[in-house]
Amino acid sequence: MTLDLKNLSVFYGKTQALFDCSFSVGEGEFVALLGSNGAGKTTLLRAVSGLLPFKGSIAFSGMALDKIVAQKRLALGIAHIPQGRGTFSEFTVDENLSLGATIVSNRSQVREDKDRWYETFPRLRERRDQLAGNLSGGEQQMLAVARALMSRPKLLMCDEPSLGLAPSITQEILAIFKTLNKDHGMTLLVVEQNVDITLQYADRAFVIEAGQIVASGAATELIANEDIKKSYLGVA
Ligand SMILES: Nc1ncnc2c1ncn2[C@@H]1O[C@H](COP(=O)(O)OP(=O)(O)O)[C@@H](O)[C@H]1O
Ligand SMILES: [Mg+2]
Repeated sequence: MTLDLKNLSVFYGKTQALFDCSFSVGEGEFVALLGSNGAGKTTLLRAVSGLLPFKGSIAFSGMALDKIVAQKRLALGIAHIPQGRGTFSEFTVDENLSLGATIVSNRSQVREDKDRWYETFPRLRERRDQLAGNLSGGEQQMLAVARALMSRPKLLMCDEPSLGLAPSITQEILAIFKTLNKDHGMTLLVVEQNVDITLQYADRAFVIEAGQIVASGAATELIANEDIKKSYLGVA
């Protein structure tokens, strides 16, 4: 699979939020999209997953997505963990995982996948019968990730996993993404404001500012680039 954005523009009414954004995510990559508050990160993910109309082109494995509705994009393998996680607080952990598999008709696949992800997230197994609303922030983020994995995505997109989490918990979540990437071959597009921590785990990153892609590079290059960090990412 590849995700290719070419000259992606998104408007809210007459207000333009994204301006000709172009970039690609290749099979097996862990890519970060970095930018400060209001830069357009959430807008970009929502355009990819089918929640906002766009101009320009978004292709998934060469297939143009403009006429494909959100539910169909999920079936094609695009999973989107929204900002704020989007887990169902009135449902148990296990029920949330089931809800992540609504597009899967094979019941034994659902059982298999739950077992696999409970293996990866032992704390979710321990809390499988608890209401999601009673989990800690970090556990809720893990649940959001595991729930998204239940649809067997080819591309997992996550919007600001660090939101509301202590730095050590953010590290733990990013380490989980790295494991998913390295051990399970998952392709990742992770949106973050938390630049330094994210660049420790991602392979490559794009920087978005005021709706435009303003920089890109290998994480190892960007981590050393004080100019970019100062100019666009609010890092002192
Ligand atoms: N529903 C909306 N209606 C109008 N403008 C919006 C809406 N959502 C976001 N915006 C604007 O679009 C820009 C990008 O927002 P967003 O994608 O949420 O940024 P980020 O996720 O990087 O913080 C901001 O200027 C924001 O005010
Ligand atoms: Mg956002």
